[in-house]
Amino acid sequence: MKNKTIIVSNRLPLQISIENDNDVKISPSVGGLATGMKSVHQEGDSLWIGWSGLTEEEVNPEIQKEINTAAEQEKCLAINLTEQELDDYYYGFSNRTIWPLFHYFMEYTKFDEEQWKGYKKVNEKFAEKIIENLEDGDTVWIHDYQLLLVPGMVKESKPNVTIGFFLHIPFPSYEVFRTLPWRESLLKGMLGADLLGFHTYDYERHFLSSVSRILRHETQFNEITLKNRIVKVDSFPMGIDYEKFEQAALEHFEKTQDQKSELQARLDQHLETSPGSKMILSIDRLDYTKGIANRIRAFEHFLEKYPQFKEKVRLIMLAVPSRSNVPQYQKLKREIDELVGRINGKFSTVSWTPIWYFYRSMPFDNLIDLYTSSDIALLTPRRDGMNLVAKEYIATRTDLSGVLILSEMAGAAHEMNEALIINPNNYDQIADALKQAFEMPLKEQKARNKIIQRRLKRYGIKKWADEFMKALEGTKVNHISKKATFVEGKTEEYIMDLFDKASKKILFLDFDGTLVDFNDDPELVAPDEDLFATIEQLNNKNCDLVIISGRDKNFLNTHFGDKNVTLIAEHGLWLKEKGGEWGITENVNKNWMSSIRPVLESFVDRTPGTFIEEKDYSLAWHYRKSDPQLGGQRANELSSVVKDLTSNHDLSVLNGNKVIEIKNSGVNKGRAATKQLKEKYDFIFAIGDDWTDEYMFRELPSKTISIKVGLQKTDASYYVEDTVQVKKLLQDFAK
Ligand code: ADP
Ligand code: G6P
Repeated sequence: MKNKTIIVSNRLPLQISIENDNDVKISPSVGGLATGMKSVHQEGDSLWIGWSGLTEEEVNPEIQKEINTAAEQEKCLAINLTEQELDDYYYGFSNRTIWPLFHYFMEYTKFDEEQWKGYKKVNEKFAEKIIENLEDGDTVWIHDYQLLLVPGMVKESKPNVTIGFFLHIPFPSYEVFRTLPWRESLLKGMLGADLLGFHTYDYERHFLSSVSRILRHETQFNEITLKNRIVKVDSFPMGIDYEKFEQAALEHFEKTQDQKSELQARLDQHLETSPGSKMILSIDRLDYTKGIANRIRAFEHFLEKYPQFKEKVRLIMLAVPSRSNVPQYQKLKREIDELVGRINGKFSTVSWTPIWYFYRSMPFDNLIDLYTSSDIALLTPRRDGMNLVAKEYIATRTDLSGVLILSEMAGAAHEMNEALIINPNNYDQIADALKQAFEMPLKEQKARNKIIQRRLKRYGIKKWADEFMKALEGTKVNHISKKATFVEGKTEEYIMDLFDKASKKILFLDFDGTLVDFNDDPELVAPDEDLFATIEQLNNKNCDLVIISGRDKNFLNTHFGDKNVTLIAEHGLWLKEKGGEWGITENVNKNWMSSIRPVLESFVDRTPGTFIEEKDYSLAWHYRKSDPQLGGQRANELSSVVKDLTSNHDLSVLNGNKVIEIKNSGVNKGRAATKQLKEKYDFIFAIGDDWTDEYMFRELPSKTISIKVGLQKTDASYYVEDTVQVKKLLQDFAK
C-alpha cells in the first residue's frame, strides 16, 4: 500500500451537526486552516483526523454510524469530545489561554490548571488516534495551537515517524510567551516535530528565541539541536487555492440575470440606485483579534473627516459566528451590535444606511458575489496569523480593479506590500486610506493588483503544501555530515572488531561534553567511579589512555593525577605522561595576556553571567550562563575584536562550546595528540565534542577512528549521540 499523510487538526474540513433529533447535517467548516488544507487533502493520499464538531453526549450509536460513513466518504476520521473535554480543551485552554496570549491579548488570557489538564487529555486522545491509524512509512502533519502537545506525544511512542507541525496563528515574542505557567511543556510538545512551520519569519524568530531562552537548546539559524536529533524551523506563508477563486469569479460574471443569487440581485440594485457610490467589504470570523470594532470606529471617523463621502459609500460587514461560548466573544457580539446600531442611527438617511451587517456564515457563491461586487476591501485585524480573506479578495479581481486596505498586523501584509497598509489603531490613517482608495485611478489599482496577483498565483496553497512536505521529507536525511556515520549496529561491531584484533592501542579522550556532561559551573564537574573502573580495565587491555582537554593542569591533576593515564591540559600546552611530571610542550610566552585581559573584562562587565578563566598560558571567556542570544552575539563581537588585536602576535582564538579562548598559536589538540604517537599503534581512537577536538580529527593519521559527540558538523568519521553513548562504548571496549 502507498504511504499516506495523516493530517491532524482540531476541526475537520466538514462540520457535522444534528438537526431535528436524528438528522445528521454536514456543512463545510470556516476558517483559514480548514479552507486552506481542504485543497491539499482532496488531492493527495491522505487521512484527516479531527473533531467531529459534536459532543459524545449528543451522539447515539445510530448517529455515530452515519457520522462515520459521512466522514469516511471525505477521507476523514471524526473524534467526538465529551462536553467536559470541550469546555476545558476547546472553549477553555485553546481559546481562553493560547489564542488570546498568542495574539497579544494578555488581559483576556486565563491561566487555569483544570483547563490545562483537559487540554493535555484531549491532546492525548488525538495522539492515540494518530498512532492507531499509523502505518510504516506514513507522514504525520499536525496543525495549529489546539494540538501543541501532540507532536511530542506521537514522537515519544513512535520515534521513527516523520512529523510536521504548522502553526496557523502568530507565535508571540518571548516576553509574552514566558508568562505561561506551562511554557516548557508546550515547547517540548512542539519539538516532537521534525519540521515546524510558521507563516512569517517573525513568528519563527520568536519561537526560536523562546526555545533557546526557556529550554536552553542550541539554536543555529533555523535548526534546533536536541540531544538525539535536529528540529528544523522555517516560514511558509500560506497561500490560497488561487485558481478556484479566479475561476469562480470568471463564472460569476457569465451568469444570466436569473442565475444570479438573491444577494447579488440586492447588491446590483444598490449599485444601480446609487451611481458613483462604492462598496467597502469586510469578512471575518467574529473575533476580537480581527479589529472589527476598530474598523467601525475608523469608518465613523472617515465619514466625519470626509463628509463628502456620505451616501457615496457603504460598508458591508460579514461576520461569521465563532466560539460563542467564550465570554469575550459574547461581549464582542454585543459591542458590534451596538456600534453598528449607533453609527447607522447617527448617519443614515432615507435612502442610505452606511453599514450593512451580516452575522452568519455564507455559502461560497455568496462570498464570491461580495468579493466581486466590492470596490474596496477593508481588513483591519489587530493581530492575525495570516488572513486569507485578503488573498481571496485579490484573486477574485479578475479585471484587476479594486483596492485592498490591510492591517500591518496581519501576516499577509508581508506579502502584499502593494496594498494600502495601515495600522489598525490609527483611525486617521484608515480614514485617509479609505479616501485614497475611493479616489485611486483605475490604472493605479490595476498596477498594484497585478503584482499581488502574480505573487499569489505563484505561491498558492498547493505550492505551500508542497514546499512544506518537501522540507519535511528533507528532514529524513541525516543532517550531520555526509561523511560521519552513526555508531550503532554493524558500524559498532566493526569498531569493536578493530579494537579486539589490535595489539597496541591508544585512545584520545576529550573531557567536558565527552566523558562528562556540561554543568553551568565547570568546577562542579567531576568524573565518576564507573569511569575510573573503565580506565583500569582498559589499562589491562594494552591500551594507552590520553585525557586531552582544554582544562588547566590543576583540574586534571586533581581528578586524574593518580591514575594510569597520560594527561594533556590547556589544549596541548601541558603534558603529564603516565607516572611522570607536568611539563610544558611548546615554547610560549605570556606577555600578551596583560593587554588582552582588560578587553575580556569589558565584555564581562557588559554581559551578565559571563566570567574569565585565567590559565597558565591562555585566557578564556565563558558565556554558558549568560542569556543565550546576548551571549552568542557578544561572542561574535569578542572574537572579531580579539582577532584584530592578536593579528600581530602568534596567538589564536578558539571558539569552543560556550567559551572563547585565546592562546598561543601552534598549541592545539591535533599537534599535541600527534606527538603522542611515539610507538607503533595499530588502533588509534579519538573522541570529542567541540571545535577544539576537530584539530585531532584532522591531524591524526587517516586510519584513526575519530568520533564526534553530538550532532554538529564535523571532520570526524563517526558520531555518537551523547556522553551516555560514549560511556557505553568505552565500557564495551573494556569488557
Ligand atoms: P481565520 O483563519 O482567522 O478565520 P482567515 O481570513 O485566514 O481567518 O480565513 C477565513 C476563511 O474563512 C477564509 O477562507 C474565508 O473565505 C472563510 N470565510 C470567512 N467568512 C466566511 C463566511 N461568512 N462564510 C463562509 N466562509 C467564510
Ligand atoms: C483560525 C485557527 C483555526 C480555526 C479557525 C476557526 O483559523 O487558526 O485553527 O479552526 O480559526 O476557528 P474555530 O474555533 O471555529 O475552529
